[in-house]
Amino acid sequence: MHCGELFMTLLFLVVKSNSETCISRSNINAVEGEPFYLKHCSSSLAHENEKTFIRWYKSTGSHGNAELSPSSSPRIALHDYILEFWPLELEDQGSYFFQMGNDTQEWTLTVTRRSKHSCFNEKQVTSKHVEVKKAFRISCENGYYQKLIKKTSLYKNCENILNNSNSLLIQKKAEFKDQGFYSCVFSLQRNGKFYNITKTYNITIVEDQRNLVPVLLGSKINYVEVELGKDVQLNCSALMNEKDTIYWNFWKEKEPFTNVHEEKKKTTWISEGKPHASKLLRIEKVNERNLNFLYNCTVVNQENTDTKSFILLRKASKDDIPGHIFTGGMIVAILISLVVVCLVIVGIIYRVDLALFYRHLMGRDETLTDGKTYDAFVSYLKGGSLENGDEYTFAVETLPRVLEKHFGYKLCIFERDVVPGGAVVDEIHSLIEQSRRLIIVLSKSYMSNEVRYELESGLHEALVERKIKIILIEFTPASDFTFLPQSVKLLKSHRVLKWKADESLSYNSRFWKNLLYLMPAKATKPGQGEAEAYPVLSAC
Ligand SMILES: *[C@@H]1O[C@H](CO)[C@@H](O)[C@H](O)[C@H]1NC(C)=O
Ligand SMILES: *[C@@H]1O[C@H](CO)[C@@H](O)[C@H](O)[C@H]1NC(C)=O
Ligand SMILES: *[C@@H]1O[C@H](CO)[C@@H](O)[C@H](O)[C@H]1NC(C)=O
Ligand SMILES: *[C@@H]1O[C@H](CO)[C@@H](O)[C@H](O)[C@H]1NC(C)=O
Ligand SMILES: *[C@@H]1O[C@H](CO)[C@@H](O)[C@H](O)[C@H]1NC(C)=O
Ligand SMILES: *[C@@H]1O[C@H](CO)[C@@H](O)[C@H](O)[C@H]1NC(C)=O
Repeated sequence: MHCGELFMTLLFLVVKSNSETCISRSNINAVEGEPFYLKHCSSSLAHENEKTFIRWYKSTGSHGNAELSPSSSPRIALHDYILEFWPLELEDQGSYFFQMGNDTQEWTLTVTRRSKHSCFNEKQVTSKHVEVKKAFRISCENGYYQKLIKKTSLYKNCENILNNSNSLLIQKKAEFKDQGFYSCVFSLQRNGKFYNITKTYNITIVEDQRNLVPVLLGSKINYVEVELGKDVQLNCSALMNEKDTIYWNFWKEKEPFTNVHEEKKKTTWISEGKPHASKLLRIEKVNERNLNFLYNCTVVNQENTDTKSFILLRKASKDDIPGHIFTGGMIVAILISLVVVCLVIVGIIYRVDLALFYRHLMGRDETLTDGKTYDAFVSYLKGGSLENGDEYTFAVETLPRVLEKHFGYKLCIFERDVVPGGAVVDEIHSLIEQSRRLIIVLSKSYMSNEVRYELESGLHEALVERKIKIILIEFTPASDFTFLPQSVKLLKSHRVLKWKADESLSYNSRFWKNLLYLMPAKATKPGQGEAEAYPVLSAC
């Protein structure tokens, strides 16, 4: 025999004798439907003749003990020190006794149901942590039933990954993906019947734990809202090695807290291969003194330390507006304000159109009761010479065409309506008095004696007696009208209209709308005046 062979044989013998070891644990869990055995741990090897005195009993509760024999159940087999079940069933649960003379042993057997939704029973798993990159080894071997095993299969998370006729072995360098439940299923055959035995390992792959720097999870300062009088617990969790320390510091110098207690034991778990722990601080019936104090949690090892603080704040009382209603209210208020602002802006931009629309809608007429004859007295540069021809045409033709024929107003145009000669000054004064508006068509060469009087008379009416309103039409663009009396500048700016020859032609243009707006409200429909509303010239 080779040295190596001899060694293998010895090893086999050692393994074999070990694998047939007795069951010394007194509380045993097993799964229904699987072969199972109990073996007595003999203190001394008994003589062959002593074996005849071996007795097995099962406790039957109040009825004392019942001796077991092959006839008591077809599923039971007795071999001296060994009691076998083929297979174990739920009804086998209970206490079992072995007796050989003075030598006795007792076991309490708990039988759990087979799992319906899994290939293994979750209560029957052996958990193991394996460090990543270290040796990972799964060995499916069953010494006791070895001779009966027909096939051994390995399942990972209930998926078949390996088959073999007897035992099987996986050996590799551990990786995180190796984590899972590994079930060895041994299929045995006895007296023509087939049985399965399942042994499951719960393998967790963990980080190399030597270099882990402990850190607390979450933010460094935590505000916790509390109600006075209620209990609160602060949870401090850390990524830390098993041997590291996690503790709370809540020492108050003058009057130490009596209602604050640190949990004695830390809770540990593995997440993503890394060891974690947490420790709770319980505060009973929170009072004023517990508020605004820093409760510190610290984790330490030889080299590193990390601390975080918790502060208790009084929770807003129930009378306060709940947050969501408050926010909702704010949003509604902001939306309403926005809508209002938009409306105001639109109103400012289109105020003229709105006012005209309103006038039209209400059929307002402010010309009925004031006893005046004209809607407006038009003051302009007289005499159609070459340099002022345009404004003359505007005052004598364009204005009456639009205001009189199209919009039904009645204008007083001195040159057109008044027969020359007579007391011009008096007449102008009374005509202006008879008018509701004074329209001044302004241009650089506006000033002449006659016009100056119209202007001054009108200004007097407007500013002193407040009987007439002035509308200035800037006919030619001019930067300053320094020649105008100071009092004109007191007019509100919106009463100055700028004529833009190219843009102001349409009846719908801004210029005419603004002019209509400044004119008195009159219940005449636009376009109506063509024939009938021609001003009565005689009186003017
Ligand atoms: C049982 O133990 C007693 C003393 O402890 C001894 O006298 C007796 O012989 C033993 N009986 C057997 C069967 O070993
Ligand atoms: C498997 O092991 C992990 C890590 O120790 C543990 O959290 C889990 O509860 C175990 N599962 C079962 C079914 O035992
Ligand atoms: C194991 O054997 C079964 C049949 O006994 C077969 O269906 C299965 O594919 C085999 N599994 C592997 C991983 O070879
Ligand atoms: C044993 O397990 C195999 C799957 O591994 C299954 O097909 C067979 O039915 C099982 N036998 C018994 C007796 O449970
Ligand atoms: C404390 O926090 C950890 C991690 O956030 C969590 O796993 C644990 O269940 C918590 N403990 C309690 C008692 O809430
Ligand atoms: C907690 O830590 C802060 C600084 O991080 C320190 O000011 C405070 O005194 C500590 N509180 C306790 C109870 O040790």
